[in-house]
Amino acid sequence: MSEKQKILVTSALPYANGPLHLGHLAGAYLPADIYVRYQRLKGNDVVYICGSDEHGVAITIRAEQEGVAPRHIIDRFHEINKRSFERFGMSFDNYSRTSLPMHHETAQEFFLDAYNKGILKKKKEKQFYDEEARMFLPDRYVEGTCPICNSPGARGDQCEQCGSDLNQTDLIEPKSKVTGKAPVLRETYHWYFPLGDFQERLKEYLNSHPDWKENVKNYCYGWIKQGLKDRAVTRDLQWGIKVPLEEAKDKVIYVWFEAVLGYISSTKEWAQKIGQPERWKDYWQDETCRLIHFIGKDNIVFHAIMFPAILMAKEGYALPDNVPANDFLNLEGGKFSTSRNYAVWLEEYLEKFPPDPLRFCLSAIAPETKDSDFSWKDFQTRNNSELVGILGNFVNRSLTFVEKHFENRVPEQKQSDDLDQWILKRISEAPEQVGKALDKFELRRSLKAFMDVCRDANKYFNDKEPWLTVRSDRERCGTTLNICIQISKALAILMAPFMPFTAEKLWQLLNLDGEVHKQNWSEAGSRFIEVGHRLNKPEILFSKIDDPVIEEQIEKLKNVAQSDTPEQREKEEALPETNLISIEDFKKVDLRVAKIIKAEKVEKADKLLRLDVEIGQEKRQIVAGIAEHYAPETLINKQIIVVANLSPAKIRGLESQGMLLAAQDDSGTLRLLTVDAEIGTGAKIS
Ligand code: MF3
Ligand code: ZN
Repeated sequence: MSEKQKILVTSALPYANGPLHLGHLAGAYLPADIYVRYQRLKGNDVVYICGSDEHGVAITIRAEQEGVAPRHIIDRFHEINKRSFERFGMSFDNYSRTSLPMHHETAQEFFLDAYNKGILKKKKEKQFYDEEARMFLPDRYVEGTCPICNSPGARGDQCEQCGSDLNQTDLIEPKSKVTGKAPVLRETYHWYFPLGDFQERLKEYLNSHPDWKENVKNYCYGWIKQGLKDRAVTRDLQWGIKVPLEEAKDKVIYVWFEAVLGYISSTKEWAQKIGQPERWKDYWQDETCRLIHFIGKDNIVFHAIMFPAILMAKEGYALPDNVPANDFLNLEGGKFSTSRNYAVWLEEYLEKFPPDPLRFCLSAIAPETKDSDFSWKDFQTRNNSELVGILGNFVNRSLTFVEKHFENRVPEQKQSDDLDQWILKRISEAPEQVGKALDKFELRRSLKAFMDVCRDANKYFNDKEPWLTVRSDRERCGTTLNICIQISKALAILMAPFMPFTAEKLWQLLNLDGEVHKQNWSEAGSRFIEVGHRLNKPEILFSKIDDPVIEEQIEKLKNVAQSDTPEQREKEEALPETNLISIEDFKKVDLRVAKIIKAEKVEKADKLLRLDVEIGQEKRQIVAGIAEHYAPETLINKQIIVVANLSPAKIRGLESQGMLLAAQDDSGTLRLLTVDAEIGTGAKIS
């Protein structure tokens, strides 16, 4: 037997500013919980940590909207979210809150340590200020039009539409979220964490983790290639953790600097609760412990670059061993939207259905390598055909058969034939097959391996025809049913990470001692229940979901979508595949080949380039958000594709007379569209 591996697993701390929906669950929580449950069954020493993220502008904006104190918001949603997680079986060892004194101390300790070591740099800068509200406007307090994709409603820190990382001052027509007024620039000062100074170490660190998911690696290398910049770690806000310096009493620590440290504070709280206050160090300050952070893709930079750098600066801490980031889940072809109530809330789901079918469905469609889509129809099909029709069916027919023909006791396993041998081998190998995918955070593949075992179990039952042998060859029939009960037991353990509630129920139907969650994973398919063991009265594991129930859910979402204004819809909905346009629509867009003749940076706009392009006889100016992807000089003479009949737009005071076409992947890498051989400029694309 190998040594027990110490593993500390975290799920991103959700903001306590609103309820949770399916999209949250699918990204950072369910995958982590499944992984944790599996590692516990393997006998590893696992601590699973989470909690509420209670500072930052996400909280204060909600509080202002409701006209209440931030404290009111976090108290309410901390409890609500904690409870929803419990009801879905998230098996956290601790669910903490970043408003606890314990966390404030941890965050201040890290800040001061970096300050005392001279790592933090103080810088004067101009920042947006709302003269009417008399406050500085950090991050999300400013909204405007995105300079990259031109969509309205981009936030001061990020454009949700195109995913670009923004500086407030990049925004076109910035507006204060507090008063709606245009903010002015005013001088302030902040402390910066010099990520650039850690660039080489971070690169080495990334290089030493070739096993990370491709999307995460690409994203990180993309950042490093651009060159890491200093990041402000203080804010002019009231709500948050006070900067522990006399000279900066009115500033708080930037929420992302402290939130990631919440994992450490939550572990400290756990250690106190179990009466071993020093135990957290066994995980955080021990190189043999694997730290694994489950997150959504929008959190990658904070966990895979910022957090490791903070830990490096502090010294004496282990660094994250893996950061499995998932893509996003969509809903019926559209994006989840809290503000529009286009979502399936966890509590709302639980009013109608048990948790396990959702856990099953979300695992089957986990957004592991690309965004995926939840649809109620698909949920219904998976429930009815896979859970009821395959897994539930096999267990149910086995249990009821034993009840009916063998006085509900496990019959004897006598002589086995080839088919018996085949299925016994199959289940003895199943833990390895289901598990090895989980070791790589591949839920979909693991679940498929599990369902394949269920399918084979049904095939075995069918091929053995116990309903015939019960009369013709009772001994043989007994052997078949003995094996079916052993399979059911194996399935209970193998399903436990995915469907913990159903696993417990099956364990109870099998009348087995102990807890299914404390069994030994590797022996799931080889340690057998004794002959003569008495089973409990059979009950079904899953119920069929009928059409009207599902239609009601679909209707609800349609109503939300219909009540939207056209602009909202345009802004928030992902393009459904059925949104076809006619050739006439397409022809309205005048696409042309253009040649870049001049390219230069736009002053004080890190992301923008000003281009002169030639389109046939014409010369035009285009302002494009490509500065972080192309050096100006590399663009000269490049043939690109532009939309030539777009109404001109003012960007940073410059007129942009057209738009160039480019493709961007999840990692943020952006590439210009071009033609595959020289062609005269102005050539029309059709
Ligand atoms: N609250 C953040 C979000 O919902 C996640 C914070 S993860 C942490 O996006 F580690 F920083 F806490
Ligand atoms: Zn954008």
